[in-house]
Amino acid sequence: MNPANQGSTESVESDVGGRVRIFDTTLRDGEQAPGFSMDRRAKLRMAHALEALGVDIIEAGFPQASPDDFAAVAEIARTLTTPTIAALARCQPADIDSAGKALQGARHSRIHLFLSTSPLHREHKLGKSKQEVIDIAATAILRAKALAHEVEFSAEDALRTEPDYLAEIFSVAVEAGACVLNAPDTVGYVTPQEITEMFAYLRKHVRGADRVVFSAHCHDDLGMATANSLAAISAGARQVECTINGIGERAGNAALEEIVMALHTRRPLFKVDTGIVTERLFPTSRLLAEVTNQAVPRNKAIVGDNAFAHESGIHQHGMLKHRGTYEIMRPQDVGAKTSLVLGKHSGRHALRQRLVELEYQVDEATLDAVFDSFKTLTDKQRSVTNDDLCSLMAMHQNNTATAAVALSP
Ligand code: KIV
Ligand code: ZN
Repeated sequence: MNPANQGSTESVESDVGGRVRIFDTTLRDGEQAPGFSMDRRAKLRMAHALEALGVDIIEAGFPQASPDDFAAVAEIARTLTTPTIAALARCQPADIDSAGKALQGARHSRIHLFLSTSPLHREHKLGKSKQEVIDIAATAILRAKALAHEVEFSAEDALRTEPDYLAEIFSVAVEAGACVLNAPDTVGYVTPQEITEMFAYLRKHVRGADRVVFSAHCHDDLGMATANSLAAISAGARQVECTINGIGERAGNAALEEIVMALHTRRPLFKVDTGIVTERLFPTSRLLAEVTNQAVPRNKAIVGDNAFAHESGIHQHGMLKHRGTYEIMRPQDVGAKTSLVLGKHSGRHALRQRLVELEYQVDEATLDAVFDSFKTLTDKQRSVTNDDLCSLMAMHQNNTATAAVALSP
């Protein structure tokens, strides 16, 4: 198979529509963040999990960054069969050649080129004119096209770039053979309204827009990465770049699990699908926590311990009557479970339910007595486990037996 013949824009165009491609960059942007680096073995384990999760594209690394990253990308490219494997490269010959070499064994390969386009980056980072930046991008795309099945072009800091200039460099990128145009909010600056306007503008003004996929890549510096990714989808983006647990540079990237479950839960609103096996979200999130030794925050949307946990009496009572009162997703759909946590905010309904689950016969007198001891215990410890409840029940049964003996003639 000659990669030069494979990177056609037609192959990308054919399945665009109601399907959003999930481009996972956990192993590149995510791994770049302090505290989240992964060695080759960890990356390979994660790559297999991402394949099982059903992501469309795995950005496996930045081969020119280090020999270990090169080796990790090469191994992932050789081993995985279903997803497209992407490797990051600056618009420099050495980076491009290294990415191409690392991807050689891949069934579907993509070189992901990036180059800064905003005025701030052009002046202070690159020291290049508008035209020079365009020429560098075009030359790099032509080189990369010969080395991989597809080429994606990212305009770094796109969302702070003049829209007409961004449309121009993207038009040149299409002419040179890029089939995915990524407009990153590199510094997590924009709002959903602004990103919507930018994607609408690009789709209208980029020459050859109908032959390529537009992609969003949002950072979370102002906590808007997921909202911005969804806004971009509503404005026609058909690829989103995201990471498991939202890891990534600074405040992180848009969290894959949040985007996917928003699209899934609010399908009538967004009207698009992904290929994600949502039941794999929770196990994949936990695997990442394990290989990076970084716990998932309890309150993390979708995959945190509290995402489907209920402790307050009012919520637990509602949940026992109808799950929909306080849950908008089924925990099993993301591979998690509902838990009614027994703590100081819990009420009698939840305590009775748990005791019944533990196969105790619970009459009103027993519940009264055990509920009092339970409340005393919750003042001392944050949550009450099943073992604690068994001890409380044993104490209660002992007290009742002792009282019965004392009363007997
Ligand atoms: O945030 C960014 O701009 C990036 C590019 C390399 C796509 O990560
Ligand atoms: Zn990024």
